[in-house]
This record gives sequence, C-alpha cells and structure tokens, in this order.
Amino acid sequence: MSTLKILKYPQKGLREIAPIVTQFDDALRQTVKEMFEKMYADQGCGLAATQLGLSLRLFVMDTSPQQNQPICIINPEIISKEGESISEEGCLSFPGVYARVMRATKVTVNYQDEFGQPQTMTADGLTSHCIQHESEHLDGVLFIDHFSKLKRMMMLKKLEKVQKAAAAE
Ligand code: NI
Repeated sequence: MSTLKILKYPQKGLREIAPIVTQFDDALRQTVKEMFEKMYADQGCGLAATQLGLSLRLFVMDTSPQQNQPICIINPEIISKEGESISEEGCLSFPGVYARVMRATKVTVNYQDEFGQPQTMTADGLTSHCIQHESEHLDGVLFIDHFSKLKRMMMLKKLEKVQKAAAAE
C-alpha cells in the first residue's frame, strides 16, 4: 500500500513550483501508480504531485462517473482555452471545503504520458476544470486564490472547523 500523504493547507509544499519531469523510468511509473491509489482511496478526481510533497510536474486524474478512466498528465501545457463556466470544486488539500470556481469551459492540453510520449487532449466540463485546477497546483496556485480575501477567509474557517472535527474523532 502506498505511503503517500496528502499535504493539507497551509502545509509547506503546496506553494512549490514543480520542476519538469525528465526521467520516464519505472520509478516514475511506480510513483504514478501510487498516486492513483491515493487519489481513488481519498475519492478525489485529481491529485497533483505537489500535494504529496513530490517535486514532479505531473498529476493524475479520473473524472469518469465509474472512476475507471485513469489519466496521467506529465509536464502539462494548456495551449488553448475557450469559454467560461462555473463549477463546484473541492480539493484533497482542503478537506470539506467546496466552492464554485469560474474557469474556461474547454481546454486543450499538451502533455507527456508516463512513457514520455507526447499527447494532446481537448476536454470540457468537469475534465476541463480538473485539468486547470491540477495544472495550477504544479505552479503552487490553489483554488482559494480565485476568491476575494473575505471569501477566502470563510473557506479557511470552514477548513479549520473540518480539521478540528477530524482531529477530535
Ligand atoms: Ni486540488
């Protein structure tokens, strides 16, 4: 079983900028496998390496309803964005906190798979929002950054409450 631990805000590491992945070896693929295990175990639809304290420019995601379509995105570069839409988001680094975030409706992303092969994906809906949310993690940007100071304070208060309740369990 994986020993990976998800960093919770405001733990150090969440603001790190992840360096480009250059080694596409078995060790990398093992890490990716463990990231998927962790993401599924915690019922997330996306998980970025920076959320685990790993200095790797990659994230895993699965936005399918049955959670049976794992996609690993390495060295992502969003090359086009279209439209705007609002969707409710959570983040495994902010347990219990949800907020409606405005993002591009449709994105096209260039990336590499776990074998280093170049890939391109165009996505909309939940997948598009997920790609944008997770790509931001790799630059140390968090979803709370999309909001006003007041709204952010409310979200952090909620996070504190959830964490206190979890600690008391
Ligand atoms: Ni997140």
